[in-house]
Amino acid sequence: MRQLEGTGRGRLSRRGLLTGTGVALGGLAAAPAALAQDTPPPTDPDFGDGDPTLRPDFPPAVSVEPPAPGGVDWAAVRGQWSMAPEEVNLSAMLFASNPRIVRDAINRHRMALDARPVTYLERNNRPLQNAARAAAGQYFGTPGGDVALCENTTEGVSLLYAGINVRYGDEVLTTTHDYYVTHESLRMSLARTGGVLRKIQLFEASERTNAAEIVGRLIAAIGPRTRVLALTWVHSSTGLKMPIRAIADALAPINAGRPQGEKVLLCVDGAHGFGVENETLPSLGADFVMAGCHKWLFGPRGTGVVFGTPLGWSRVSPTVPTFLAPNAYGSWIGGYDPGPTTAARMTPGGFKAFEHVWSLIEAFQFHEGIGKAAISARTHELGLRLKDGLNQMPHITVRTPMDPNLCAGIVSFDVEGMSADAAVHKLRNGNVIASAAPYAVRHVRLTPSFRNTPEEVDYALNLLNALKPRARR
Ligand SMILES: Cc1ncc(COP(=O)(O)O)c(C=O)c1O
Repeated sequence: MRQLEGTGRGRLSRRGLLTGTGVALGGLAAAPAALAQDTPPPTDPDFGDGDPTLRPDFPPAVSVEPPAPGGVDWAAVRGQWSMAPEEVNLSAMLFASNPRIVRDAINRHRMALDARPVTYLERNNRPLQNAARAAAGQYFGTPGGDVALCENTTEGVSLLYAGINVRYGDEVLTTTHDYYVTHESLRMSLARTGGVLRKIQLFEASERTNAAEIVGRLIAAIGPRTRVLALTWVHSSTGLKMPIRAIADALAPINAGRPQGEKVLLCVDGAHGFGVENETLPSLGADFVMAGCHKWLFGPRGTGVVFGTPLGWSRVSPTVPTFLAPNAYGSWIGGYDPGPTTAARMTPGGFKAFEHVWSLIEAFQFHEGIGKAAISARTHELGLRLKDGLNQMPHITVRTPMDPNLCAGIVSFDVEGMSADAAVHKLRNGNVIASAAPYAVRHVRLTPSFRNTPEEVDYALNLLNALKPRARR
């Protein structure tokens, strides 16, 4: 790539600016003749609806070595990050930092966009967004055409619930354990449509419940007007992983007797299962899963995905104009109906931090290079080590189930005689990055991921052991 000149050591002098201006004006003066000779390139008025035969300038170049037969070299995997050495970050559930191949991809695109913001965008946007959708689809077992891109779980959940076709008097069933974003998106959406929101409690104690209790209470609550089950894959308060497949199976006979438009859609906030569990959309049996890619997947910050089934897409309407669907501008200019809802039409338009969107490709490659199963096993192994250690401390009550079918990477607990915030503060003083759940009842959360080591888990356990109240020492 041609180097940009005239900036000295990164500072522009007044003389340099003036010289630069002279060159630019000289170039402009010659432009009309050059323009007259050129054949105009194919137009791409919306930067997303252009020539589909264009190939990206930087096809994803980074391949990740599959794990050696003896297993994954976790130290090498960890070496992909440049984390501050003094922090023990046990908060993958919050906000990602990126492994090297994702950082490199973002940098490559950022530099190219800085050099040629319009032409690089025109050449690359459509193929790279579609490649990102295909990569996400390959990772999660769906065609790329059924993947909508968004900026985070919050946006994905709101796009779905703002656009879901729920009529006056129809019911959306959710639970008291779901997150703010699900509850608020539904409250705002149903206030407009006249739909009814019902929240039910699935268990008394997260650490003692089981799949049969959860599925039984949910299915018993479904009524003739229920159209949507709005759930969360892994509860971010208690770390409980919902038995989504079992719920889908129990829903199947109810849906079998209903017409297409009245089947109960199973919609899942996937924020804390995505990037952890070795599952796909078909294996879960959900109609929609929405997830940010900037948590457990360690993808670019400000990226997310919505996966939907054909039945699911047929039951929602877009609420934000897209730039991605092939006929987006054509239907507007031609004044015709753009047709049925597709994942492309559900992908919000507008200009974005495209270097992040496009680098999703490398984020999925990175995970698949290590292996979904290996990542899931490692995350569960570290979580179990943490829970085993916590269970030996009489001043700690673990709120996350021990059953591997009912937990993922979040480990939630309470410390006797101490608020969740105070415990998080103590841990942070010891350089362990924990968090307190933003719910009415707050628990402490430590969320080791495959980036962490057993030693880091043990270090956190030691700090927590020291929080024993005096009376217990
Ligand atoms: C269950 C759940 N959904 C969604 C979110 C928000 O995620 P995002 O930052 O991807 O919008 C959170 C927060 O971490 C969460 O706990």
